[in-house]
Amino acid sequence: MEKITVRVPGKINLTLDILGRFANGYHDLQMVMSSVSLYDEITLVKKEEKNISVTVDKRDLPVDERNLAYRAAALLMEEFALTGGVEIAIKKQIPIAAGMAGGSADAAGVLKGMNSLFELGLELPELQKRGLTLGADVPFCLLGGCALAEGVGERLTPLEPLPRAYLVLAKPDFAVSTPWAFAQWDKEPTKERPDLAGMLAGIKEGDIRQIAAKLGNVLEGVTGREYPVVWAIKEKMKEYGALNALMTGSGPTVFGIYTELEQAKRAHTVIKESRMAGEVHVVKLGEWEEGR
Ligand code: C5P
Repeated sequence: MEKITVRVPGKINLTLDILGRFANGYHDLQMVMSSVSLYDEITLVKKEEKNISVTVDKRDLPVDERNLAYRAAALLMEEFALTGGVEIAIKKQIPIAAGMAGGSADAAGVLKGMNSLFELGLELPELQKRGLTLGADVPFCLLGGCALAEGVGERLTPLEPLPRAYLVLAKPDFAVSTPWAFAQWDKEPTKERPDLAGMLAGIKEGDIRQIAAKLGNVLEGVTGREYPVVWAIKEKMKEYGALNALMTGSGPTVFGIYTELEQAKRAHTVIKESRMAGEVHVVKLGEWEEGR
């Protein structure tokens, strides 16, 4: 095999809670995460020269070691002493610096793709262990679906597939630095916490209303205070039929949950026209197939 293409979905947080802080500064988290049907597509081609080249179809993304996809390839090239190199072409759909694990998804895609392309024979847990050294969300991106993530994000418990629903995703035109958001939270920790037990019960019962009612993210207050457009987008989504809405990760992307596609499309149009967010998508919560 000389070439392979992998598709990796973005994620949202249905819950995000911070339980404490580890000695290395990372935070002890408890999160329910779900894949969404918005994908980055990564094509890997073997080459003879022993180096890595990265191209991305979106501006503003580095193509050197600052890119997690590059670092993922470098890690495997070194560990397995590969004789050749690899060309990485990334087609991005997942918004950048948005709280949707776009960079981690690309790293996950490179790990998976190179594992097949170079016949490295690594199983999922072995890929996840290596992925964790690149970014806390990479192990989840390798798994996909819906899962409870604990620790820095590496302790994963797969959960039942979510009931069918649509999301409107809206990313305002600025990026939020994750280290900044965590540092702000450290200064002023929130008292209100997501109801994890309630969320897990909602998922177990496949009850989308209960799931929507239990959305919660302790970083939402941090980012929302600095960028109140987060609140405005949430309100607009609810005004136009969302069961509920939440900011994902450290933001600034906000998602609303809709049971009807037509409603989601209407909310998409309204938010797009409001200019509160430059990037607006209608996607599926999870990766279910239409018509099944
Ligand atoms: O691992 P990743 O590069 O995705 O994390 C980005 C930043 O988010 C880290 O540098 C750290 O500041 C913060 N973080 C954290 N605790 C976690 C995950 C990330 O403090 N569990």
